[in-house]
Amino acid sequence: MRGQSVMPYALRPMGPHDLDQVAAMEREAFPTLWPPTSYRRELKNRIAEYLVCVRDGEFVTVTPTPRKGLLRLLGRRNKPTLPVQVPLLVGFVGLWYQAGDAHIVSIAVREEYRRRGLGELLLIGALEMATRRGQQVVTLEVRASNDGAQTLYEKYGFAKVGLRRRYYADNHEDAVIMTTGPLGGAAYEALFAGLRSGFEERHGEAAREYL
Ligand SMILES: CC(C)(COP(=O)(O)OP(=O)(O)OC[C@H]1O[C@@H](n2cnc3c(N)ncnc32)[C@H](O)[C@@H]1OP(=O)(O)O)[C@@H](O)C(=O)NCCC(=O)NCCS
Repeated sequence: MRGQSVMPYALRPMGPHDLDQVAAMEREAFPTLWPPTSYRRELKNRIAEYLVCVRDGEFVTVTPTPRKGLLRLLGRRNKPTLPVQVPLLVGFVGLWYQAGDAHIVSIAVREEYRRRGLGELLLIGALEMATRRGQQVVTLEVRASNDGAQTLYEKYGFAKVGLRRRYYADNHEDAVIMTTGPLGGAAYEALFAGLRSGFEERHGEAAREYL
């Protein structure tokens, strides 16, 4: 018994039933992103892995978006989709694995749930996934003006290693490229272990499930 509290949140792999909520979270977090990400396609992407953060004991009513394609052509087009109750998702993170480099392609927390450790929990999840997959480093791009996210990444040992000028199409803002040190190296392992246990002391432990 470690005597630590338990967070009322859990991380688990994203599934097809999560897509409507994830799309809504993406629209809220990245309102200028166009076209929106096809998470249905991303779930089939062999180099991608996505996690969602679930709020324990809270549910929302959603009306699933009807699937496009063959089923519709086969005559199920008019079948109404009924509203269902599903667990509330409060954030998500996605990684692409490319030649030993785990790239964070997206990370977001619902606005009303920010500043309570959930972005940090998702980042811990991403770093754990990358480590389990034997990746050498974790990298990402972040808007030059996104100070909050950069503070979070710096806390977890990401260093600014470059700039992609005028990277974002909406306002031509630069992207800052950030990367961890070698995940398997003693220095990063010690840093991460310390940060994770500090996080758990402050916020409690959260259940985590990976693919
Ligand atoms: C970036 C984001 C995921 C952070 O999520 P969050 O749940 O609010 O972050 P946390 O509460 O876990 O914060 C952890 C640490 O990050 C830093 N941080 C996070 N948001 C910050 C902010 N707005 N200002 C300053 N520091 C911030 C702090 O160091 C914080 O630690 P502290 O609580 O001890 O101060 C969230 O703001 C978000 O979804 N933003 C919109 C999408 C986005 O910009 N994603 C990043 C794209 S690269």
